[in-house]
Amino acid sequence: MTHSDPKTVEDAAALLRAGQLCAFPTETVYGLGADATDADAVLSIYQTKGRPRFNPLIIHCADLAMAETLAVFSPLARKLATLWPGSLTLVLPARPNNGLADVAMAGLDSVAIRIPDHPLALALLAAVGRPLAAPSANPSGRLSPTTAEQVRRGFAGRVPVLDGGPCQAGVESTIVRVHGDDLVQLRAGAMARHDIEKALGVAVAVADQHAAIAAPGMLVSHYAPRAMLRLNTTPRPGEAYLAFGAASDFSGPTANLSLNGDLHEAARNLFAMLHQLDAMGADMIAVAPVPDEGLGEAINDRLQRAAAPRE
Ligand code: TXA
Ligand code: MG
Repeated sequence: MTHSDPKTVEDAAALLRAGQLCAFPTETVYGLGADATDADAVLSIYQTKGRPRFNPLIIHCADLAMAETLAVFSPLARKLATLWPGSLTLVLPARPNNGLADVAMAGLDSVAIRIPDHPLALALLAAVGRPLAAPSANPSGRLSPTTAEQVRRGFAGRVPVLDGGPCQAGVESTIVRVHGDDLVQLRAGAMARHDIEKALGVAVAVADQHAAIAAPGMLVSHYAPRAMLRLNTTPRPGEAYLAFGAASDFSGPTANLSLNGDLHEAARNLFAMLHQLDAMGADMIAVAPVPDEGLGEAINDRLQRAAAPRE
């Protein structure tokens, strides 16, 4: 079945209020949205994505008042929330009977919340008047979409998309768990850990990658294009090349994350360029080294997952 895409925020809000799915833009990636208080609507997110089990979803809020109805904010959590709207997701203790569908929280007693920094997303949240569950709008395990066109292609036109142009950040939000006085980064993302520390004068630890549950559902192989990846390397004949920094003389299919080595630009280009090289049909994409500082942490995390052995 094909849908006509909503032309306005009001059209998209009407779909969501009626319990249907609608993809919408955020500053990080496009989200596949559903009313987070409607269990059937949330279940159709899992079904549509082919998400293998019920991983808890990020709950998007219009403002702090909405967020406070869902979770308990300690003073430290409130301090972090001063970075909202923004690419930071906070994992906080859930308020009992907060109205969220259990399946959105996967039955946990914590909830992951953020206020996205995108005018259309904020207008949509305000128009719906309810929190929206929204994972990235791609089939499970595949690359996250940073344009409406990628969403349409990923789901073969089966999901209505509110088009807001290309996403500015290009990788998913940073996830931080607030646990008493401790802050633990569960997923590196579009807000660099050092920037959070500098802005607020706090320390953010990194979750042990080998801990059983950092962010449940952070499967090792994820964000994968069809092609296989080789990391921190130079290309061989017949491969495609995802470069970073100064141009190379490789003559095969090449995309450069950032010619002048800008990590923001590289994050914004990452998924789009992997999509692009994938579409050119190479079986192997060689990827240049990307420095592991600032946003490089999130970029390298996504690259490692994209390169991980597949099931
Ligand atoms: O940038 C983003 O965050 C995008 C856009 C659309 O906002 N959304 C996104 O959502 O990436 P999603 O659902 O794909 O990511 C959810 C992540 C998963 O890794 C999940 O395990 C983790 O958040 N998560 C959700 N609730 C959690 C909780 N209570 N405790 C720990 N991790 C949680
Ligand atoms: Mg995702």
